[in-house]
Amino acid sequence: MDTKEIILDVKKLNTSFISDKKEVKIVKDVSFQLKRGTALAVVGESGCGKSVTMNSIMRFTGQNARVKAESIQYNALRDGKIQEYHMEKFKSNNCAEMRALRGPDMSMVFQDPMSSLNPVYKVGDQVAEGLIQHTGMSKKDARAKVLDMFKKLGIPDPESRIDCYPHQFSGGMKQRVVIAIAMICNPELIICDEPTTALDVTIQAQIMELLKGLQVNEGKSIILITHNMGLVAEMADEVCVMYMGRVVEFGTLEDIFDHPSHPYTKALLRSVPVLGLADGQKLETIPGITPNPAELKGGCEFAGRCPLCEERCKAKDIPTYEVSAGHRVRCLQYDSFKEVD
Ligand SMILES: Nc1ncnc2c1ncn2[C@@H]1O[C@H](COP(=O)(O)OP(=O)(O)O)[C@@H](O)[C@H]1O
Ligand SMILES: [Mg+2]
Repeated sequence: MDTKEIILDVKKLNTSFISDKKEVKIVKDVSFQLKRGTALAVVGESGCGKSVTMNSIMRFTGQNARVKAESIQYNALRDGKIQEYHMEKFKSNNCAEMRALRGPDMSMVFQDPMSSLNPVYKVGDQVAEGLIQHTGMSKKDARAKVLDMFKKLGIPDPESRIDCYPHQFSGGMKQRVVIAIAMICNPELIICDEPTTALDVTIQAQIMELLKGLQVNEGKSIILITHNMGLVAEMADEVCVMYMGRVVEFGTLEDIFDHPSHPYTKALLRSVPVLGLADGQKLETIPGITPNPAELKGGCEFAGRCPLCEERCKAKDIPTYEVSAGHRVRCLQYDSFKEVD
């Protein structure tokens, strides 16, 4: 691995939750790499494990989670030098190393701005808090930095808005504040978990433009969780398609949009309007429903909904095949191609 080129390398991440003494596997052998300065979109229907995957990496999982990985390597680039972090070896979610990484190196923007903002504190103070914690900066200097960040993120009239409370902000402005919190320590990696789902289309476009700008102009690396394939087409360099806790397909934007290979990816693309629908054209839905993770029996998770399902698909664990350089598909249709990890 070229540690300068790859900022995050995840190998065989597995997360399960224990409830009523039963362990349910939610994320299964998820592997992917994020290239520095690029945007990776993680897509898949609701409930397929996108958030759990990213929360596992960021160590935001709760008490009932069991997270295991062969490796989760974060390659920080500092003054031209690489510092490697083997996050799978961290002792706890809140260990000193993880606390040090969160904020200055990697941070997360959540779907619902209200769950990330505290209603009783002024927004400016909430953004300044991380900065003061990580740098020991004075309140006055931190306030100046927050003002700069508000300006950069297009929050109008920042001098007076900085002393407002969250309820005085619209949804789009609150989401900007949440992005400000994520950005204030200048992290290189930003993980955005459906950051615009709660917002209307115009605001959604503004927020996306802002994130794209951070990537293109400042070289940030971005992971964007979304189920909006239109956003994927605009934002992503690479795409990771997940189904029932597995990566079923991974490739460049072109691989996924022009040569979708997994039956699930094909169904997903048919079920969302990418460039708007022609008159009279019907939007297909993916037939069947996602199974209950606790009731899966092995074999391909998509077998029950797949139009091409064969007996052998239900019988064994499905390997991943490389159908072209970097384009990986977890489907037996491609068993004449090279098997990869
Ligand atoms: N803390 C938890 N305890 C038990 N199950 C959970 C927990 N968090 C998520 N899950 C389950 O994990 C699965 C994947 O959830 P999630 O990652 O949130 O999906 P999404 O792809 O929509 O982000 C769901 O079936 C969900 O019910
Ligand atoms: Mg989610």
